Amino acid sequence: MIKLKSPADLAGVRQQILSQRDPSKPCITICSGTACHAYASEKTATAFVSEIERNDLKGKVDIRRTGCHGFCERGPIVVIFPEEICYLGVKPEDVPEIVSTTLMENRLVNRLLYGDSNGEKIICEGEIPFYKHQSRIVFGNNRLIDPKSIEDYIAIGGYSALSKALFKMSPDEVLETVKRANLRGRGGGGFPAGLKWETTRNAPGKVKYVIVNADEGDPGAYMDRSLLEGNPHSVLEGLIIGAYAIGSHEGYIYVRQEYPLAVENLSIALSQARNYGLLGKNILGSGFNFDVTIHRGAGAFVSGESSALMNAIEGKVGEPRPKYVRTAVSGIRERPSNLNNVETWANVPLIISRGADWFTSIGTAGSKGTKIFSLVGKVNNTGLVEVPMGMTLREIIYDIGGGIRYGKKFKAVQTGGPSGGCLPQSLLDIPVDFDELARVGSMMGSGGMIVMDEDDCMVDVARYFLNFLAEESCGKCIPCREGIRQMLKILNRICDGEGRTGDIQLLEELSEVVRDASLCALGQTAPNPVLSTIRYFKDEYEAHIKERRCPARACKALISYYIQPEKCQACQICLRECPVGAITGGKNLVHVIDQDKCTKCGTCLEVCPPRFGAVVKTSGEPVPEAPPEGTQVERTKGARK
Ligand SMILES: Cc1cc2nc3c(=O)[nH]c(=O)nc-3n(C[C@H](O)[C@H](O)[C@H](O)COP(=O)(O)O)c2cc1C
Ligand code: FES
Repeated sequence: MIKLKSPADLAGVRQQILSQRDPSKPCITICSGTACHAYASEKTATAFVSEIERNDLKGKVDIRRTGCHGFCERGPIVVIFPEEICYLGVKPEDVPEIVSTTLMENRLVNRLLYGDSNGEKIICEGEIPFYKHQSRIVFGNNRLIDPKSIEDYIAIGGYSALSKALFKMSPDEVLETVKRANLRGRGGGGFPAGLKWETTRNAPGKVKYVIVNADEGDPGAYMDRSLLEGNPHSVLEGLIIGAYAIGSHEGYIYVRQEYPLAVENLSIALSQARNYGLLGKNILGSGFNFDVTIHRGAGAFVSGESSALMNAIEGKVGEPRPKYVRTAVSGIRERPSNLNNVETWANVPLIISRGADWFTSIGTAGSKGTKIFSLVGKVNNTGLVEVPMGMTLREIIYDIGGGIRYGKKFKAVQTGGPSGGCLPQSLLDIPVDFDELARVGSMMGSGGMIVMDEDDCMVDVARYFLNFLAEESCGKCIPCREGIRQMLKILNRICDGEGRTGDIQLLEELSEVVRDASLCALGQTAPNPVLSTIRYFKDEYEAHIKERRCPARACKALISYYIQPEKCQACQICLRECPVGAITGGKNLVHVIDQDKCTKCGTCLEVCPPRFGAVVKTSGEPVPEAPPEGTQVERTKGARK
């Protein structure tokens, strides 16, 4: 590897890499992101290597392990270039057929293609509805490059933005470009990155730090992990450009301990960039020095908060501190420290390369560019989706997510991570951006999007998030520590069927105190799940409190299961499967659930054959009296004797 000493050297290396590649040569890419890895994608990749050799195709076909494509639930994903034929759920045993059929005979393996709702097969990855409606400007390169290869990144134009910034722009010009692009932080608050950079740049002191926040503590969120795993150089390039604009020579990447592949790929990226002279002293011969240290976080949610994260980097307990002076002015070791989220940094090279005008042409008036969401829950297609700011919730959930699973009814979508809000059907057409989500009582957060259906109880959902936040509160300030705990106590009793008149009001009052008096944004935003569910689903709270009824029939204390005697066919399946032996009956005898023994696990309902449909789940109604012991079943047509 040669040390690059000028932009011309970088351009030369790129030319050399491209000249050694033939774009018409077949290239099999195998996703090696964490999810596909868990589906044994490495075995699939190894099978391709040996099958290619066995068929004397070595040298005629390239094989590349890539980062996450986003459609993780359908992994391992294999895309064959240049046609971009996309095969889903590829197992090692599928490989010989792919090689012999697609590579050698130019035919498709239909069973591995995506099939739409009409049974039509879709060949190209980009045509699959999950991808078709996305704009993957930040995340899209994951599928094209091997994250362990800096050459792959350079081949697609990587580090040309850094070269442009260092040699064609002054630090002020870089700063102005990012300000003009109105890049807002993707990690939570949506604060304008350029303004924060400027604050750190203008803060007194020679030593300044730039930091990547890769703590990603939101349950269910994994966009930062996938970016770091799949395209670490893009984040690094953004960080170096930011350091140049701010006047920083030292950086940190704070990654949670539970992200081993991200740390591995990042470490490789750092050492490759150093070897090429893209990191370290005299970067690209520009005279600018900058280097980075990886700091592994211990996995506490609150450590993702800026001051807590900086404490952790200093080796202290990762707890927040009062921010009388902002961390941008006094952060790590009381020096000016600029912290941005992984996705924020990954946008920077794009803005420098393509310009602020290009970036501001995407998105809404106040929120520019795209946002990556982790779309999970009760949708047909789950995964990572990148969409322009301003796309509606409906488009994301229905066009990309494919609608609600099993034909059930949409109930709510929770955005913004544990401190976000739950939005109802009536808000499905709002454009998703920082300001709109805040206006309706939720937030963008780092991009979690959890879809819920008619079976989800909104009081229980609020309880779930408060439980998470109560456990993750560091306990340093009383309003957060005690306030969240008290709110959780009230939610627990409502879900347990012991709600009291006045509980809703009490929750609202406590929310106000916790929001206004907490030390950090964990407490300040913790009431969001409660306030938004009260705002949009108050009837569910009232049903729990006044009628002791859970409309979604989800809260265990408020539901019962019983077997309808006229439908029971004594098949004995529920009797055998009930884990606590709460069902009695026998051959030809109507089965009965002992309500005192029943733990409401729902197994009987799950296993009762749909053609009988004898088990009923109910809430708020008395369970009908059981038939006398020894009652014989009435056989329906088709039932087995
Ligand atoms: C409890 C808590 C946890 C947070 N966790 C994260 C996180 O995991 N990742 C992140 O980027 N920001 C997180 N933030 C937001 C950070 O404090 C900070 O605003 C952000 O990293 C700044 O980057 P940005 O301006 O690019 O969004 C968290 C905030 C709070 C209050
Ligand atoms: S890990 Fe393969 S698609 Fe996400």
